[in-house]
Amino acid sequence: MSALPYVPDLESIDPSLDLVAEIGRLRSARRAVILAHYYQEPEIQDLADFVGDSLQLSQAAATTDAEVIVFCGVHFMAETAKILSPSKIVVIPDMDAGCSLSDRCPPEAFGAWLQQYPGHEVVSYINCSAGVKALSTVICTSSNAVRVVESLPKEAPIVFAPDRHLGKWVMTQTGRDMVLWPGFCIVHEQFTAKRVAALKAQHPDAKLIVHPECDATVSRMADFVGSTAAMLTFVIERPERKFIVGTEAGILHQMHKARPEAQLIPIPADSGCNCSLCPYMKLNSLEKIYLCLRDLEPAIHLDENIRRQALKPLERMLSLG
Ligand code: 13P
Ligand code: SF4
Repeated sequence: MSALPYVPDLESIDPSLDLVAEIGRLRSARRAVILAHYYQEPEIQDLADFVGDSLQLSQAAATTDAEVIVFCGVHFMAETAKILSPSKIVVIPDMDAGCSLSDRCPPEAFGAWLQQYPGHEVVSYINCSAGVKALSTVICTSSNAVRVVESLPKEAPIVFAPDRHLGKWVMTQTGRDMVLWPGFCIVHEQFTAKRVAALKAQHPDAKLIVHPECDATVSRMADFVGSTAAMLTFVIERPERKFIVGTEAGILHQMHKARPEAQLIPIPADSGCNCSLCPYMKLNSLEKIYLCLRDLEPAIHLDENIRRQALKPLERMLSLG
């Protein structure tokens, strides 16, 4: 008989509670660490012990000596933390915080698709499930994808999944041909060349910086393409005072803190919300972080066989530095 899934009971929170103080108290009592991705709400980034991109967060999850990891990000990130640190309790504020890349690449379909490519090395973007990681040769993130692909023998045929845009960008950087799984990020795919051209015309003195999950028509126009951490470093180090930013708008918080005098212009989606927010990342809240620490739920649980298989390609990535 399986246990009922945990449902965060927001009504059970005393409205007079000072959530930030209570989270701090529980964090010490539980010997917990709070990790947050750059796409989290500013108040979550501000109370986290560590804020970073996917690579930095997986490194932090692999090396922390905390007993509990509260992962303020999306499901595949918390799952990666559990693969790397199986003896720790890993909780995520909202179990429904998925990712279009991971959700649209189910392990069964991916395994069947791979049958067409025998003998290929399988490079999987970290934005995938443990089941897909378990089928992979090596994992990469947006900050090390080029290095990871270049670490494979020159003549090796390669399958890259699940982000076709990151895959295409890596192909342009490495000159290597790769078979691409046709996945995409619902946030970055909404940035169009038309919108970006209009913004550039409006702000000719701005540097255009974009994430490699963007379509090639957008990346080709950019002054810089890199992971969230690399984009932040670019803004910190460059003398310019105006930047058009092509990624989820959560990153603007750290950019503003580092360069308060700079003008940051997020690219809006060309449809729907007209924003640049990830609906999955934004499911997390202070209330749910408090409940996570109070209840130690919802916790990530993994099949041990899958975890062990998924660990190998992750460790191979981490060993590349
Ligand atoms: P990075 O953290 O590697 O920049 O990737 C961004 C992202 O989309 C995470 O979901
Ligand atoms: Fe996934 Fe895109 Fe959201 Fe990142 S921004 S979690 S890639 S849907």
